[in-house]
Amino acid sequence: MTSFTISDGQLDGLKDQVAVITGASSGIGLATLRRIIKHGGKVFASDLTPLPEPEASSVPFLKADVTSWKEQLDVFKAAEQEYGKIDHAFANAGIGKSTSFLEEEVDENGDLLPPKMNTINVNLVGVMYTVKLAIHYLKKNPNGGSIVMTASGSSFARLPAEDYTTAKHGVLGLLRALQPQLHPRLPIRINAVAPSWTDTAIVPRAMIAALGDSNVQSADVVARSVGVLMADKERHGELVYSALGKFVEMEYGESGFHALTKPMMELAEGGEKKEVLAAEKRVDEVLEEMAVENHGISVVTE
Ligand SMILES: NC(=O)c1ccc[n+]([C@@H]2O[C@H](COP(=O)([O-])OP(=O)(O)OC[C@H]3O[C@@H](n4cnc5c(N)ncnc54)[C@H](O)[C@@H]3O)[C@@H](O)[C@H]2O)c1
Repeated sequence: MTSFTISDGQLDGLKDQVAVITGASSGIGLATLRRIIKHGGKVFASDLTPLPEPEASSVPFLKADVTSWKEQLDVFKAAEQEYGKIDHAFANAGIGKSTSFLEEEVDENGDLLPPKMNTINVNLVGVMYTVKLAIHYLKKNPNGGSIVMTASGSSFARLPAEDYTTAKHGVLGLLRALQPQLHPRLPIRINAVAPSWTDTAIVPRAMIAALGDSNVQSADVVARSVGVLMADKERHGELVYSALGKFVEMEYGESGFHALTKPMMELAEGGEKKEVLAAEKRVDEVLEEMAVENHGISVVTE
């Protein structure tokens, strides 16, 4: 776990880069769109609602619901047609919680109704669609590129919102599942941002008021973390938490998640470190063989 700052100069790598953004018309998506353009990049935007002005007049946009595979496919096709390439995808569209496991709704027979899946569909399935499409289009780019997903503090912390927190844990799961399969086997990096409370339309005004202005960050703080994950070619598999304008990378480093949990797993496995390491090596070998079969490409070892 490492805290870091982001200078404007670190975002200069965005120049001439093309990014597809979902949920681009508001909040973190819109702030990221503005950041990328400020640093000389280009954006293909999509959202359920139109972009505001002045961006509506200058940034290519296609209305798309992220829960529709077909509509997202059309966005990536249109972006490639517009710019001739895609360098980055920002899987960002999201909504707040849609269901409660404690409140009960019943049908006309008095039978309990299932939970509403809207938030899972937008915040997890929608992100999975974007990422699947992004990998397809980035494979076609000879220079490769990167994917950034919007996770959340609730990807690892206890936020009492059943569907929202589950979906955001899922986004972190997707990051961890793809991290070993992409860079450096393929020239595609994947990272995620995990914003703490950020002043956007998704957060009820009553919550912003309760938190107080000084405890809520601006969307541009998160946009900077997205920008650096796209621009910095060394960053892969990172989860960048941002709170009140400060940035912390959660996955790596001596106090990052994996360094902390590995000894716990070894403890559960009887503390036989040598055997655990040997088993892990065998698992790595099988995973490498599977990756070769899956991609039909040779493996570049780190
Ligand atoms: N604001 C925060 O405090 C905070 C904290 C952590 C994570 N996030 C995440 O940030 C992301 C962006 O949200 P935001 O805070 O900028 O809120 P926001 O409401 O300002 O922006 C979300 C955007 O997503 C779009 N959208 C919603 N459903 C969609 C769908 N089905 N298809 C396409 N677009 C859709 C909305 O129209 C909107 O423009 C979300 O994934 C959210 O969960 C926000």
